[in-house]
Amino acid sequence: MAIERLVEPTAESNDKEEERIEISLRPVTFDEYIGQEHLKNNLRLAIDAVKKRNDGSSLDHILLYGPPGLGKTTMAGVIAHELGASLRVTSGPAIERAGDLASILTNLQDGDVLFIDEIHRLRRAVEEVLYSAMEDYKLDIVIGKGPAARSVRLDLPHFTVIGATTRTGSLAGPLRDRFGIIHRLEYYKEPEIEQIIKRTAGILKTEIKPEACELLATRSRLTPRIANRLFKRVRDYADVNGDGIIDTVIAKNALDLMEIDYLGLDPADRNMLNLMYENYGDRPVGLTTIAALTGDEPTTIEDFYEPYLMQMGLLARTPKGRVVTEKGKKHLEEDKRSKK
Ligand code: ADE
Repeated sequence: MAIERLVEPTAESNDKEEERIEISLRPVTFDEYIGQEHLKNNLRLAIDAVKKRNDGSSLDHILLYGPPGLGKTTMAGVIAHELGASLRVTSGPAIERAGDLASILTNLQDGDVLFIDEIHRLRRAVEEVLYSAMEDYKLDIVIGKGPAARSVRLDLPHFTVIGATTRTGSLAGPLRDRFGIIHRLEYYKEPEIEQIIKRTAGILKTEIKPEACELLATRSRLTPRIANRLFKRVRDYADVNGDGIIDTVIAKNALDLMEIDYLGLDPADRNMLNLMYENYGDRPVGLTTIAALTGDEPTTIEDFYEPYLMQMGLLARTPKGRVVTEKGKKHLEEDKRSKK
């Protein structure tokens, strides 16, 4: 059985109140959006150019890729806002048939932004409809069946697709080629995460001491979504066990309770590294073997565990498989010692 994870960056809250809070924390403008400076500069330029031309042309299609939780959806919202356009949000798995896509596309207005999350999971038949829609704003549909079937071409409004994916490798070449702007979202720097936590504290009207903010930032896996989620848990802890103010003692106790260590690893990360090292030592381990050991899907390992563990230098990918690095081994030993 895979371990339930608090730091799972995609875990959506099903609680209406939590959802409302998440939405209230989302930055709306480039100025409010902290970090990803390189991406913001490029996008600002592209948007300013479209506005200045003012000739009815739309912003180039944009592909955002990178680990989950880094703000791809949030950025799509900011782009739409900065363009003064409406945003329509959908995802690869949600568009089941070509007809579903056709109905989304025909309901768009000129200049609208269509955000497609997990675009690598679009079905083939749907993807093919998207090609001509993105390329020349035409919708090719077949009406009728059998010998009476005929194909018609409809004009579509000039819209902008923002595609998001955790993996560009899984994107079909022709689809990838239709994006004029392709950008990777990077892990945030710790001071940026601190700023995001400070901003969240302000919006949620909670006092957090600077050292506590720093501590939370070091444990947030350089990921805003996780920083905000940890913040909310620590705030609960402060409300129950103190006067609501988050200081280092409160923050440390709350993080210990969640078993999040000083590198931001949770029990599931440590469990995976441990299983790899105990069973294979320094020998490389294949992805499917790791998945079998932890009880996760291989894609979960690839998308959620690996990117951060590699970023922190605890895990390495070799042509023959994954290995726990020297730093990773040291971290596991420290963890064992701390529990004795
Ligand atoms: N909340 C989540 N991500 C954010 C970001 N990048 N900037 C500001 N607030 C955020």
